[in-house]
Amino acid sequence: MIELRCAPADGRPTLVRIGSGILGDGVLAAAGQRFPGRRTFVVADRSVSAATGCVGAAAGHAGATILVDGGEPLKSFGGVEDLLRRLVRAGADRSSVLVAVGGGSVGDAVGLAAALLLRGVELVLAPTTLLAMVDSSVGGKTAINLPEGKNLVGAYWPASEVWIDPGFLATLPENEWRSGLGEVLKVAIGLDAELFEHCERHAESLLARDVDATTTAITRSIAAKISVVESDPLETGPRRLLNLGHTLGHALEIASDFSIPHGIAVARGLHHAIDVATTAGKLAAADAQRIRKLLASFGFEPAPLTGRQALLQLVERDKKVVGGQLHAVLPTGIGSSATFRMTPAAFLSPR
Ligand SMILES: NC(=O)c1ccc[n+]([C@@H]2O[C@H](COP(=O)([O-])OP(=O)(O)OC[C@H]3O[C@@H](n4cnc5c(N)ncnc54)[C@H](O)[C@@H]3O)[C@@H](O)[C@H]2O)c1
Ligand SMILES: [Zn+2]
Repeated sequence: MIELRCAPADGRPTLVRIGSGILGDGVLAAAGQRFPGRRTFVVADRSVSAATGCVGAAAGHAGATILVDGGEPLKSFGGVEDLLRRLVRAGADRSSVLVAVGGGSVGDAVGLAAALLLRGVELVLAPTTLLAMVDSSVGGKTAINLPEGKNLVGAYWPASEVWIDPGFLATLPENEWRSGLGEVLKVAIGLDAELFEHCERHAESLLARDVDATTTAITRSIAAKISVVESDPLETGPRRLLNLGHTLGHALEIASDFSIPHGIAVARGLHHAIDVATTAGKLAAADAQRIRKLLASFGFEPAPLTGRQALLQLVERDKKVVGGQLHAVLPTGIGSSATFRMTPAAFLSPR
């Protein structure tokens, strides 16, 4: 088992434990071991629980299991209110531990519920999608959506522990798998040359969900995220680099009414960021070619941008645009990136 620690200077630390089989006896049994004598409330995505049997049983460990439907509707005031009421009715108190089992949607909703319940109870995340393992479970962000937009309401409430068992990924639907790979490639391209080389060398194994290759990719992705989160917990500087591929990616997601999975939209955004960076003279042609080849080896081919005018409007409305300028994150080499101020129009139509 691998242990990583995320300890931002002004936040609470998170212990990340990674290993295939670490939850093999079930999440409840792990909770019994890590938090003996504490009441544990496992909130699990119903379909994950059914597909993987991951909640399990724990003889003698007090608590309850609450099943929810994962997905965006859970990330709403109604979804969080329902969760809070079920937790209170089941007897949750200030010393209780909440364990979220599921993808990023469950982690975000349970995380916010943990921040709100009795002004805050202990949170553990057991992510079950690749995207949640490599991205959303570290960093302390929780959020729900409003009809006006995604992730507009939330709190910083870091998990005290994150339990990652890559064995759970076997049942993940293929498009969710590829979506997670999009985020892994974002980290490889923008932050970690060693992860980049790992992805180049093991593309086939990663596409086939080989557990060892995947565990390495998860570990390096989290380590990279930890280093930027520690240096910039509130996203005013280096943490912005995690948004590589996301400016266009978000616009594509919205334009498709969220029918394109997040990480797949990000991968399209990565191709675009390469175009912008090369045109602006920030990325050498040989590096650009190598990055494009890596994306293609994972099935992420460049596609022409259609509906540029609508995309421009979406980018202009992005909450990250300040004073008509956005901080465009662009690749500057293999495993390196930087932010550049430019207008949404210049970002969208580089030439
Ligand atoms: N807090 C953060 O820092 C952060 C970062 C990135 C994304 N997010 C949020 O994460 C959410 C997306 O997360 P996601 O991609 O994990 O989606 P998700 O939670 O909606 O899960 C995707 C689907 O996969 C199913 N599923 C999950 N694990 C499974 C498994 N092991 N086997 C079979 N099916 C499984 C779920 O039931 C669901 O249908 C978005 O709401 C996004 O805003 C948050
Ligand atoms: Zn993302």
